[in-house]
Amino acid sequence: NVRRADVLLGHGLQPGDALRAAVARGADHQVEDAANSRSWREANVAAAQGPLATLEEIKRSNLRGRGGAGFTTGFKWEACRNAQGKGRYVVCNADEGEPGTFKDRVLLNSHADLVFEGMTVCAYVIGASQGFLYLRGEYRHLLEPLRETLARRRAVGLLGKSILGQAGFDFDIEIHLGAGAYVCGEESALIESLEGKRGIPRNRPPYPVSHGYLQQPTTVNNVETFCAAALIAVQGGDWYRAIGTAKSAGTKLLSVSGDCARPGIYEYPFGTPVRQVLEDCGAERTLAVQISGPSGICISADEFDRRIAFEDLPTAGAFMVFDNSRDMFEVARNFAQFFAHESCGFCTPCRVGTSMQKEIMDKIARGQGTKYDLDQLGQLDRVLQAASHCGLGHGACNPVLDTLKRFRPAYERRLKALTFQPAFDLDSALA
Ligand code: NAI
Repeated sequence: NVRRADVLLGHGLQPGDALRAAVARGADHQVEDAANSRSWREANVAAAQGPLATLEEIKRSNLRGRGGAGFTTGFKWEACRNAQGKGRYVVCNADEGEPGTFKDRVLLNSHADLVFEGMTVCAYVIGASQGFLYLRGEYRHLLEPLRETLARRRAVGLLGKSILGQAGFDFDIEIHLGAGAYVCGEESALIESLEGKRGIPRNRPPYPVSHGYLQQPTTVNNVETFCAAALIAVQGGDWYRAIGTAKSAGTKLLSVSGDCARPGIYEYPFGTPVRQVLEDCGAERTLAVQISGPSGICISADEFDRRIAFEDLPTAGAFMVFDNSRDMFEVARNFAQFFAHESCGFCTPCRVGTSMQKEIMDKIARGQGTKYDLDQLGQLDRVLQAASHCGLGHGACNPVLDTLKRFRPAYERRLKALTFQPAFDLDSALA
């Protein structure tokens, strides 16, 4: 682990610290408000101040979702808390399937208490009594240690009935193991899978905050988001928002892999330039970096001063380094194969479009492609963007188009030379 910022990876919290802080913050409010309460109804309103005080800190922190999209966490929690329903749920999305991303695995392996603590703080804020950790099937080896952590937390009163002795604060967490489908990382497909159905994304809106698990209000956040929320519960929103940039508060964990001397998990304040990360991980002669995996963006050397931040280069965490020995056409072809394999098959544009993309890339690789095929790749993107049912299809052409734009010669040198001579040359006829 390399830490330019020592916020999340060096947190030093003990199990229960964040929860005690959240509840204590509430108690301050309750004492103040109870002193001013004149009726039973007002006293009840005061009791609700506990979770609200913590929600206020989350909102002040400007924390944004770490799964990649960067939606404001405070807004999400508040919308879920205010939504009508028979019950509320907290879901931790640990279906970390984006190629090149492995920071959630490290958090679950080395900081599991912090993850569960963040989920429990969320439950306290939104009023949930049941939580789920949706664990990627390939992370099965983490299942037993995670269950042991949950059992330990139950034994010391950090999960279960009346957590920390607070009457009515009942919450427990169940782990649900995925079965290896990339699309189940999409939150609504994940919820379908949790409900025991095939993991097909739902139409959104409505969003899970109002219609999630069993159509009830549900907060779905990434592993890293819950960890950050636990820290904010202890340190407060102002502390957190002072780190990073105005639009991207806090730090980001990066999963650094590829052509570099020191791959691994790195933590940086938002706003850090790509060049800094390359220097830290010992990357040399770097040709390209794939930020946020294949559904993210591929940048070339003239863009290495760009910054890791939602306003510039948003990322779920993948930072894949390619040096100048790599053929970026082959990198993109590999990603095209990935999307064709992982398309869930529910909607035709994505099912057929991702396969067509793969076939065109294979055709070019065999030396049978033409300029017409390059145009077709752009057309396919327009169809997938416009007509796919979910984000998998929307982003499936990104790696091909990014590399086509930045490394066009890698494509063109494979194209078949056109031997066809038009019988009629329009240009000379018009001259
Ligand atoms: P999105 O922007 O549609 O939603 C992001 C979050 O905000 C969701 O939780 C959604 O429920 C919530 N949200 C959005 N609008 C809302 C509203 N009006 N009210 C309440 N809640 C609202 O993005 P999406 O489709 O969920 O995720 C796309 C991102 O996932 C991309 O940025 C991509 O990079 C990333 N991704 C991450 C992967 C990983 O392994 N971590 C894998 C593949 C993609």
